[in-house]
Amino acid sequence: MTPKPFTHRDAVPYRPVDWTAEYPPAYPKGAVPGHVAIVMDGNGRWANGRGLTRVEGHKAGEAALLDVVAGAIQAGVRHLSVYAFSTENWSRSPDEVRFLMGFNRDVLHRRRDQLNEWGVRVRWAGRKPRLWGSVIKELQYAEQLTRDNDVLTLTMCVNYGGRVELVDAMRSIADDVAAGRLKPSAVSEKLLARRMYIPDMPDVDLFVRSSGEQRTSNFLLWESAYAEFVFLDTLWPDFGRRDLWHAIDQYLSRDRRFGGAIDTPHESGTPPGE
Ligand code: IPE
Ligand code: IPE
Ligand code: MG
Repeated sequence: MTPKPFTHRDAVPYRPVDWTAEYPPAYPKGAVPGHVAIVMDGNGRWANGRGLTRVEGHKAGEAALLDVVAGAIQAGVRHLSVYAFSTENWSRSPDEVRFLMGFNRDVLHRRRDQLNEWGVRVRWAGRKPRLWGSVIKELQYAEQLTRDNDVLTLTMCVNYGGRVELVDAMRSIADDVAAGRLKPSAVSEKLLARRMYIPDMPDVDLFVRSSGEQRTSNFLLWESAYAEFVFLDTLWPDFGRRDLWHAIDQYLSRDRRFGGAIDTPHESGTPPGE
């Protein structure tokens, strides 16, 4: 007998978020990254490694996301952007794409009240073309419901691609130039930044990817120009707030120079690393 295909309605129960069980380390004041971006990767490998189909991995990833949102709030992170579906993910099997669309819609539906209670503002970054209307509706509903919240801004990147975001931004600028509304000389970094999907999104401070892959896969290219990258081997369904805190620890040990330099000759004359 062929197994019944999975649908988003088969979502597994999630582990409840316990606020009191774990606390983040005491970070120095002002040191916590303001904007953390996460590539939630490794669901398929997690599932296949257990003899399950890929969609079981996506389902198990829901609890990980909620736990990480809770951990981000506890740590004092103000912006969290998560990669939920890329413009390249359309190349997956029709069954997996269908599942992911329905699943994204249902996670938003299931979790919006909980996120709202936590003071989370939900936003969407991505493109409309091809995205299911029902997913757009849920994203817009969640945006509307949570628009006055300010504990944490959770940007759901759905049908998002960094290159296409730049293309869309450049097109809108080209339209304005062609219509005589904008002079080419007025095009600046600041102006381009304001044409991104979320014009007031701050630059990414910490870019985290789970599952051991070490690439951006087209996530927040413009916004991550000066991000610190932390790659963790944990597969997304096993990821939790402790992994986020571990990534923040690594971030705190980095020396962010932004192209600047400070002259500090070593008194002993010993070159660093010797
Ligand atoms: C990330 O997990 C979730 C999405 C891309 C939607 P994957 O589905 O990419 O899992 P792996 O990388 O194949 O293990
Ligand atoms: C990036 O992961 C997209 C999401 C996590 C939504 P992928 O698994 O799709 O990226 P590649 O294929 O490894 O580059
Ligand atoms: Mg992957």
